[in-house]
Amino acid sequence: MPPRLFLSPPHMSGRERVYVEQAFDSNYVAPVGPMLDAFEREFAAYTGIPHVAAVSSGTAATHLALKSLDLDRGDEIWAPSLTFVGSIGPTIHDGLRPVFLDVAPGSWTLDPDLLAQELRIAAGQGRLPKLVIPTDLYGQSCDLDPIVASCREYDVPVLCDSAEALGASYKGRHAGNGAFAAIFSFNGNKIITTSGGGILASHDAKIIERARYLATQAREPVVHYEHTEIGFNYRMSNISAAIGRGQLEVIDERVARRRRVFEIYRDRLEHLPGLSFMPEAPYGRATRWLTVILLDEKQFGADRETVRLELEAANIESRPVWKPMHMQPVFRDARYVGGKVCEQLFREGLCLPSGTQMSDDDVVRVAELVAGIHVTATSRR
Ligand SMILES: Cc1ncc(COP(=O)(O)O)c(C=O)c1O
Repeated sequence: MPPRLFLSPPHMSGRERVYVEQAFDSNYVAPVGPMLDAFEREFAAYTGIPHVAAVSSGTAATHLALKSLDLDRGDEIWAPSLTFVGSIGPTIHDGLRPVFLDVAPGSWTLDPDLLAQELRIAAGQGRLPKLVIPTDLYGQSCDLDPIVASCREYDVPVLCDSAEALGASYKGRHAGNGAFAAIFSFNGNKIITTSGGGILASHDAKIIERARYLATQAREPVVHYEHTEIGFNYRMSNISAAIGRGQLEVIDERVARRRRVFEIYRDRLEHLPGLSFMPEAPYGRATRWLTVILLDEKQFGADRETVRLELEAANIESRPVWKPMHMQPVFRDARYVGGKVCEQLFREGLCLPSGTQMSDDDVVRVAELVAGIHVTATSRR
């Protein structure tokens, strides 16, 4: 059996070791230090979002963003149903009420028209959300401008969940740039990793200053430990930041390779009946962090679960499209607005292995297995 092909494993450049060694030599084995400062500076320069706080995860970054707003228990937070739980989970800790909306078929991200319509209705009924959190899915930016424009009409801030979209662009700028704040993730499966980590980024220096304060136990700037409120221990370590610096140096190569992996899959599979790919929205350039296919069982001859299990039998990891939040037991009481787009994507969608260390031959092998499943299934008819 060939070695396991994972969905999106870490891919070190070699530069990380140099920075990690420097961090050790300086003895900043701590959640402060020159690597952390440099990583934040370099990340801000790369994304064009000037103020950033590096923290322990994307989920922590989201929690800090919530804490930068004046929110009360019971306030509504709106988000696309097709997202990862880290995007919306932190709202529950603070007694906020998530409401989920469907996504647009052309981008798989929050449907801006549906959002505009729902905001209008909510304004009429005096129950506007306190925050909207669109997600940049699988390396593709959401359609941020109309989302921000609709929200601005009602003074609703937009926090962009760009956890999966480092390296993606939207109308010529970096994904997430244009919201009141954006979060990014460096979890081990992301396009670059710090082993685990995240960033909160904003054009508003005050938001980031407060996030840093809350992320370090809300310590007042005095020599003894003085607290006027309770914070968190969320800061990124200097060692993780050292890894992040080595990774950030190769982000453009990583984006190019993810896109190339997608192209190889597309060239081998796009002619198959009942198989299609996640569309790339015309407003930006996706990273293709994950290559995602949709399988129409009737035409393709097999459903996504059959394909997933066949790949698994060949020691290849694939994963269904994220299960929509309104279908999750934990959110059974949450309101859901919209149609059936995300439900269909979940039913038919499969994320294929997309790691940047995969060779062309690896990608071809996976593609041929998928194509073979179609041939076998349809020849039985
Ligand atoms: C869309 C989305 N939001 C939030 C997160 C949370 O990030 P983290 O795992 O760094 O907490 C992730 C990734 O894991 C994600 O994919």
